[in-house]
Amino acid sequence: MNKKTIKDVDVAGKKVLVRVDFNVPLNDQGQITDETRIIAALPTIEYLIGKGAKVILCSHLGRPKGQVKPEFSLAPVAKRLSELIDAKVVFATDVIGENAKKAVDEMKDGEVVLLENLRFHKEETDNDEEFAKKLASYAELYVNDAFGTAHRKHASTAIIADYFDADHKMFGYLMEKEINAVNKVLNDIQRPFVAIMGGSKVSSKIEIIENLLTKVDTL
Ligand code: 3PG
Repeated sequence: MNKKTIKDVDVAGKKVLVRVDFNVPLNDQGQITDETRIIAALPTIEYLIGKGAKVILCSHLGRPKGQVKPEFSLAPVAKRLSELIDAKVVFATDVIGENAKKAVDEMKDGEVVLLENLRFHKEETDNDEEFAKKLASYAELYVNDAFGTAHRKHASTAIIADYFDADHKMFGYLMEKEINAVNKVLNDIQRPFVAIMGGSKVSSKIEIIENLLTKVDTL
């Protein structure tokens, strides 16, 4: 992989906006029933904290379709994250409002702010420029570590990259690990090559399946 990653940049004392995928399942009581995605984001978060960065996390959760719906709040994720890492975690109750701005303004080196669900704004899924610009204004550096959302052309994953120059945007450890794994599978093929696919939301995986069909012996 020849893209820039967090290891290539001095992050100390810098505000770093990290797009993660904290789209975890919650039960009726708002409890996280599978924290795999939070755990997967920890290497990047812990690295940045350890280097003294100010870590501003943003994510979607579910599909609230541009409306503020409490059942899709990232508050339970902030709570769980604060138990998992050795750093102060502040939950901002909005994304581009006063609460988020204050939380970001007040943060110190090695601290974390998690913004509320990006998809409470329709602008996120619309890949809206102004929304991305406001998000980008929080930070000097942008890290995309949201591998599970990499196929979405949304404001926080796509157009936002336009607001950081090449030296100020990069991938996190999860993205690096997954891209390397995909590259290995697709470019260094050991035959016989059998692909076994699982998971939900098959409709969004059709292109991957079509691509794999040109390479595998058995799917
Ligand atoms: C996922 O769970 O597949 C990702 O978080 C993307 O979510 P989405 O399908 O709602 O865009």
